[in-house]
This record gives sequence, structure tokens and C-alpha cells, in this order.
Amino acid sequence: MQEMNASLTEKNLFEQAKKAHKMAYAPYSKFAVGAAIEGKSGKIYLGCNVENLSYPVGTCAEAGAIAAMICGGDTIINKILIFATGQELIAPCGACLQRIKEFADDSTTILLANEQGIQKRCSLSELLPFGFVNSELKK
Ligand code: THU
Repeated sequence: MQEMNASLTEKNLFEQAKKAHKMAYAPYSKFAVGAAIEGKSGKIYLGCNVENLSYPVGTCAEAGAIAAMICGGDTIINKILIFATGQELIAPCGACLQRIKEFADDSTTILLANEQGIQKRCSLSELLPFGFVNSELKK
């Protein structure tokens, strides 16, 4: 992981994810998360967490942004920025790392941000060094 110098695209992803986080439906945890993806095409897709009274049914912000990306016609994540407020920087949960893996390539970048801005940039292999792959299932 390394500290970053935010490019224009990354500043835009930051602003969009911050807006998405305001839309979160998180009445149970009260913890709002926003995600913004830049697809290979350059288009941006947003997601926020959507909780449910049946707690495990709730979905993460990353899952929402990935669904929007697929619906919008992109299949490769160039960058994904995750935004939440608070002192502790949050990273995608294990399930979301596997979701990201499905649509990542070698240059996919994961950006972690809080109110102060983008704090970390990571590769997927740093966060998920040994995720699930099975070439047999891809046939
Ligand atoms: N959450 C996300 O949306 N993304 C993450 O990367 C971590 C956690 C959500 C799920 C739940 O609605 C709330 O944060 C508290 O766990």
C-alpha cells in the first residue's frame, strides 16, 4: 500500500462516492458507506450499502456499484473507491474482495477514503492475495 497523489479522476471518484454514501440505507448499523467505480470505458458507477431487517440480506456499497457497472455495460474495474466517515479507514469485506476479483485485471486499483480524502491505494492482490479461482469452473 502507498499514500497517494490524487489524479483528477480520483478526485471525481472521491466526490461521487461521498455523494453515494449520503444515500446509504443503514438504519441498523448507522454506518454509511459509498463506493464509486471507474470502469474500463471511463464511465463511473455508484453504490451505497442497503441494509435489511433480516440483517444478512443487507448489501455492501461495493456490491451495489458492481451491479450498476454490469448493468451499464462495463466488465472491468479500473478503480474502485470506498468512502466512509470516522477515524478508522475501512477496506472492502472479504466477500466484496471476491466480488471485485470477478471484474478485476492486473491494474485494478482499490482506493480507501475518509472525509479527509483518499488515504490509501491498494492492488487487489495486496488485499486478497489468495482469492478463489478455479479454471475448471470457467470452461
Ligand atoms: N459495509 C459496506 O458497505 N462496505 C464495506 O466495505 C464494509 C461494510 C457496510 C455493510 C453494513 O451495512 C455496514 O457497512 C456495517 O457493516
